[in-house]
Amino acid sequence: MGGTAGMPGRDCPRCPRLVEFRKAWRKKEPTWFNAPVPSFGPEKARVLIVGLAPGVQGANRTGRPFTGDYAGVLLYETLLRYGFARGEYKADPDDGLTLTDCRITNAVRCVPPENKPLPIEINTCRDYLKATIAEMPKLKALVALGRIAHESTVVALGAKGSAHAFKHGGKHTIGDLALFSSYHCSRYNTNTGVLTPEMFRDVFKAVRGFLDGA
Ligand code: URA
Repeated sequence: MGGTAGMPGRDCPRCPRLVEFRKAWRKKEPTWFNAPVPSFGPEKARVLIVGLAPGVQGANRTGRPFTGDYAGVLLYETLLRYGFARGEYKADPDDGLTLTDCRITNAVRCVPPENKPLPIEINTCRDYLKATIAEMPKLKALVALGRIAHESTVVALGAKGSAHAFKHGGKHTIGDLALFSSYHCSRYNTNTGVLTPEMFRDVFKAVRGFLDGA
């Protein structure tokens, strides 16, 4: 099973439904990554972005968060714009893109059927989110993408959900950390206009402003 505190092993057995789904995809697409997706970016970053879970043909295929997912196009473009990434995003983990002062993880590390992790899977995988947060010595800000990531991050930080409701563009202070929240940059949200690129950029602009003033 392997793994470390912040990273489940390739054959993590903790969520039976996700194990079955992983097995099915390994059979169907044996060249794909098909395993819990590790966080991307330096541990000494000041910012941690928390996504939902790998997309089946995106991070689950490529092994890098948001890479190959539709959602990754807007995310990486925005990170490049605000100086949190360098290089060129080519939807390929070998594209040479690097993250600067920023790291990306997911609330749930394994791909869930229909992009919908169950509450028990979110709770189980939170151990890895907590450990990921704990292994970042310079962390100052987190950016939650979507309500599920927001709620799981609030609990991972030891706070009460009722005191920190999700709101797009919201900013909460939890201990000595700032939690910024955005609607998820999914294809569904951008196609329906729930989230425009400008709304998404404004969140990262606020994070950049917060860091510059810190
Ligand atoms: N890809 C990820 O890695 N995470 C998400 O939340 C969505 C797509």
